[in-house]
Amino acid sequence: MSRKILVTSALPYANGAIHLGHLVEYIQTDIWVRFQKMRGHQCWYVCADDTHGTPVMLRAEKEGITPEALIERVHAEHTRDFAGFHVGFDNYYSTHSEETRACANEIYARLQAAGLIETRVIEQYYDPLKRMFLPDRYIKGDCPKCGARDQYGDNCENCGAAYTANELHNPYSVVSGAKPELRQSEHYFFRLSDRRCQGFLRRWTQGEGRLQSEAANKLQEWLGEVGESKLTDWDISREAPYFGFEIPGAPGKYFYVWLDAPIGYMGAFKNLCAREGLDFDEYWGPDSTTELYHFIGKDILYFHALFWPAELQHAGYRTPSKIFAHGFLTVDGAKMSKSRGTFITAESYLAQGLDPEWLRYYYAAKLSSSMEDIDLNLDDFIARVNSDLVGKFVNIASRAAGFIVKRFAGQLCTCDQSLPAIQAIRDRSAQIADHYEAREFSKAIREIMALTDIANQYVDSVKPWELARQPGRESELQVACTSAINLFRLLAILLKPVLPALAARAEAFLNVAPFVWQDGHTVLAAGHAINAYQHLLTRVDKKQVDALIDANRQSLGATPPSVPPAAGEPQPERQADEPSAAVAGLGGTQIGIDDFLAVDLRVARIVEATRVEGADKLLRLLLDIGPLGSRQVFAGIKAAYEPPALVGRLTVMVANLAPRKMKFGVSEGMILAASDADGQTPGIFLLSADAGAEPGMRVK
Ligand code: 2FM
Ligand code: ZN
Repeated sequence: MSRKILVTSALPYANGAIHLGHLVEYIQTDIWVRFQKMRGHQCWYVCADDTHGTPVMLRAEKEGITPEALIERVHAEHTRDFAGFHVGFDNYYSTHSEETRACANEIYARLQAAGLIETRVIEQYYDPLKRMFLPDRYIKGDCPKCGARDQYGDNCENCGAAYTANELHNPYSVVSGAKPELRQSEHYFFRLSDRRCQGFLRRWTQGEGRLQSEAANKLQEWLGEVGESKLTDWDISREAPYFGFEIPGAPGKYFYVWLDAPIGYMGAFKNLCAREGLDFDEYWGPDSTTELYHFIGKDILYFHALFWPAELQHAGYRTPSKIFAHGFLTVDGAKMSKSRGTFITAESYLAQGLDPEWLRYYYAAKLSSSMEDIDLNLDDFIARVNSDLVGKFVNIASRAAGFIVKRFAGQLCTCDQSLPAIQAIRDRSAQIADHYEAREFSKAIREIMALTDIANQYVDSVKPWELARQPGRESELQVACTSAINLFRLLAILLKPVLPALAARAEAFLNVAPFVWQDGHTVLAAGHAINAYQHLLTRVDKKQVDALIDANRQSLGATPPSVPPAAGEPQPERQADEPSAAVAGLGGTQIGIDDFLAVDLRVARIVEATRVEGADKLLRLLLDIGPLGSRQVFAGIKAAYEPPALVGRLTVMVANLAPRKMKFGVSEGMILAASDADGQTPGIFLLSADAGAEPGMRVK
């Protein structure tokens, strides 16, 4: 019976590039969806960019563009990267859409009507310079436990202690460097601590097969024992300035990005419904009999298995059928690292000319239904792709096709279906389907490769290349090659969810309609003509992998990719966490263009210039950089300039230099000036921009 299935992958943040870590999830989901479609089920796969929140707002500001322009650009980049890896979404949308807004408003209104929304005044750090409340990850300071400097506001990377931002010593804003102040504001909460939510979640999370056992255990821990009320209310609002949806009836308050992110699944599907004529309520209504699956990383289980089902249930929608969490990616046994070049972006992988299906195959060979991390071992990657796909699988077709085309005008003869190799494939096909269904892809691949070995043993035993040299053995040659071609076809059907592009090339060469799973029950008819064999897959060359690692090592300093959220808060973009691997050359250090472009140089107008009490060399400047606002900078130019002469001048500043706390205040950038080595003789010369330049213009 045909099933109706809706599948999602987690929505990537719209402030960073897709990398190989992200792709574990999208490839895993795509394989599963392709398998369901091949089985004849109605399976829809939707996703979207997760566009809201402080990091997107600040990145746009840093780039000097609007958040809307940023998310539009990133949407195009993400769409390109996913297509490059054959991730076949039925809709790749955006949370910044009217559909998502309508669903978010509806859910909020229904929760409010159910008495599950409450307002409360809370105290939170505020950046007086930037005039915004600061999420915990935007506050740094000294760890209250071990005293380590520059620790984030939620936990210490040095001693591992968890704490609240208010406990940090010497806190400062990551955004401006200013000392944050505690201020009060009214926030909106989803009352997760309500007995209705607790009771519901207790039943829901223990539902048969709904969560993997490791996940169910984790949930049990979060929920606590019966009678114990461990869940606290969830703060779903943020203060302006914020890039997101304003809360209806609450001017200046916005839905927190994690409130509307999963609602983006609904928004993306709603948009698809309009295009495909589907009934939204059939999939999301409270009595829906369709299946709904969310593929996610294990780090966002909390949001998907607690907040999300509780929201849906109490807003009168259906809840997910199952949640499938996966582990993280390591490369060569370690966390992906920029300095080692193993933080590999999807774009660079494709740009270096590596075949996306090599990676799809390798991931499939490693993936299971568990939440364990998977390792991309680069040597093993090369060996496995070359041996399994090129050496074993493709080889079956390449050894037989030429004879069929040259000696028999492309025509196959009758295939002996009782051949043990064909029987073996038939016998194992149901088990392989079960493995795909259960997301045990590594088991499916192991079985398929064992069958590929059997197929190769058959070809080795009949030796078409020897038959071809012996006159009078034409019909034996045609039988042998026909069998080999049929074996190849049956294996290609089994591999199609993993290797859709290779399967499409195989379909073209075999001159057949796109494979469906049922095709595995038949063989090609006698008289069927195949086309000339075309190259199906190339070998991985170690040099390509080395070049890829090099390319990613060199791109240090370029846009940092998005990083996974910590403690439920999307992280602010961080400075590249490791030093740039620049190459020393003549006349100083050589850098790539990306390194140069990472320095945000802007035309700035000096609006104030004052002496600094107690400082011999410094002047305090207030700079106007147009849409980027104003910045305070302390510059060592006192010896060369009288303050009044500077006011009104245009100069050039580094606008993205990390703020520096000085004795006299925070310096939020640097102006550019020329001087000799000692900085004194013959003097200091401030750079100027020609007339007509506007404050905020980028210098490049
Ligand atoms: O962790 C992340 O990358 C989030 N952007 C995932 C959101 S998934 C869903 F809730 F939208
Ligand atoms: Zn510490």
